[in-house]
Amino acid sequence: MDLLVATRNAHKTREIRQILGPGFAVSDLCSHEIPEVHESGKSFEENATLKAVAISKYFPGLVVADDSGLEVDALGGAPGVFSARYAGHEASDKQNIQKLLGALARIEPRAKRSARFRCVIALARRGELLGTFEGIVEGTITEQARGLRGFGYDPIFIPCGFQQTFAGLPAEVKNRISHRAKAIRLLAANLAPLKTRG
Ligand code: IMP
Repeated sequence: MDLLVATRNAHKTREIRQILGPGFAVSDLCSHEIPEVHESGKSFEENATLKAVAISKYFPGLVVADDSGLEVDALGGAPGVFSARYAGHEASDKQNIQKLLGALARIEPRAKRSARFRCVIALARRGELLGTFEGIVEGTITEQARGLRGFGYDPIFIPCGFQQTFAGLPAEVKNRISHRAKAIRLLAANLAPLKTRG
């Protein structure tokens, strides 16, 4: 069964392909001429749905789109859907991290540092939403960046039950417990019946 992942991020495509396994011919936007979709939603679910539904009008098979980010409780859930551009449209991961640590330090030195990564994956076909799947990983924000792996806010996020940040943990561990992995596994469970029917 053909499945298009609405991303140009080869890492995301590989992760989805690995978890879904054989039975799905997974491709992404790098191999299709499809217009960009503006992420104008107020929630991860809205953005993922917007992307999946819009792109599924240009592609005959199943389309999945994801949106994800970090929610920090002491910042009222920020950066949330603005995670990628928290410190500005062209901001680097380092600038986003600096802004977040600065904002937390200004509130109150011992402010609650609980946070979570959230990922929502939307599944659509021919302009119709078939479902959304959410994965969450709870954790805390460190005082300083630690670890060299990963991307985004990985160096300042310690998942519950671990001592190291996502950037300090081996990739296999992160990919097992991450918000994205959880959402993909839920998607996989819901796609399995389609595969056996297809
Ligand atoms: P998107 O879902 O690819 O648009 O991700 C939005 C932003 O959220 C990224 O640019 C990162 O800043 C942040 N983010 C999402 N998932 C992760 C993660 O697994 N680690 C670190 N940062 C993440």
